[in-house]
Amino acid sequence: MNEIKPEGLKKLYSCRIAGTGSYLPERVVTNTDWEKLIDTNDEWIVARTGIKERRFAAEDQCTSDMGTAAAKKAIQRAGISPEEIDLIIVATVTPDHIFPSTAARIQHNLGATRAAGFDLQAACAGFLYSMEVGSQFIATGYYKNILAIGAEKLTSITDMEDRNTCILFGDGAGAAILSRADSKTKGFLSCVLQMDGSKADLLQVPAGGSRTPASQETLDARLHYMRMQGKETFKCAVSSMVDCGRAALERAGCSVEDVKLAIFHQANLRIIKAVGERLGLKEEQVFVNVNKYGNTSAASVAIALDEAIETGTVHSGDKLLLVAFGSGFTTGAIVLEW
Ligand code: COA
Repeated sequence: MNEIKPEGLKKLYSCRIAGTGSYLPERVVTNTDWEKLIDTNDEWIVARTGIKERRFAAEDQCTSDMGTAAAKKAIQRAGISPEEIDLIIVATVTPDHIFPSTAARIQHNLGATRAAGFDLQAACAGFLYSMEVGSQFIATGYYKNILAIGAEKLTSITDMEDRNTCILFGDGAGAAILSRADSKTKGFLSCVLQMDGSKADLLQVPAGGSRTPASQETLDARLHYMRMQGKETFKCAVSSMVDCGRAALERAGCSVEDVKLAIFHQANLRIIKAVGERLGLKEEQVFVNVNKYGNTSAASVAIALDEAIETGTVHSGDKLLLVAFGSGFTTGAIVLEW
């Protein structure tokens, strides 16, 4: 647990979310579709994960395409122009390239000519990390409008022959415009970020980086795809999310009864339920859409947040608890007032 407390920090401004957007590719892949390709069945997938279907991007569609589509909606809903964006932070484990950054592609696609930008890698907790990083620039008054994006083409790193992982993941993107809070909205109340690098090998893409560069051998051994030790990851996900969520609530001075809606990383319905129960939340306080999209990593909380807002589940003054967990092992939690 990261013990650094933000006491004594001079915050000139609070940060709020001025607009959200999301994008899901058209192609729906159901559990029945998977039954035709690998040794699995709908009953097993639903019982172990809660996932019924997920979206797959088109072959010629990349992470920046999906991030751009989500960002356009968020910009429009925030009522700003692309030129007003100061900074673009793209959370992703599936960047278009090793370099340039996916943020650079999105900046160009949007015409956000004034914006600086970078990619941020905190796996499935990436969107939470990007919002917290962005909120710090808002807090100091350094920037006024920040575009935080979670975007993934996970199918580009999924081993379609590994039934332990392939049924879990999908593609998509979500985005939020972070701006200064006004007198009507309190915005972000607290944030906690944690990491446990000792567990980094439990969920990783073994090859293609500087530790094990790409070679014919790594390709033949399928080492450019995700590898996960599911059971251990499951246990760490539950305990870390509970820990981080509790710490964020405490730091915000909120109880679980104050939370209108908890949006957790949509990896597995059993994880979502276990975290909700351990935090003492009621079922109706916990948002679920993992059944429709599977695990979209950094895009997951961003898509869920946009869906909750677009379906009218969240109203002005509601308190939200966002919590995500991912490879690293990284965990992030934010409490905010909408
Ligand atoms: N279809 C059918 N059977 C499958 C299967 C599939 N897609 N995948 C695995 N199985 C089999 C296994 O081979 C195993 O068979 P065996 O007992 O004959 O060896 C059996 O089902 C049980 O596998 P196990 O790994 O014990 O299942 P589990 O209850 O741990 O569930 C996960 C597997 C992956 C669903 C679960 O571990 C999980 O959700 N982990 C966390 C994943 C996650 O969220 N990661 C991202 C975090 S950001």
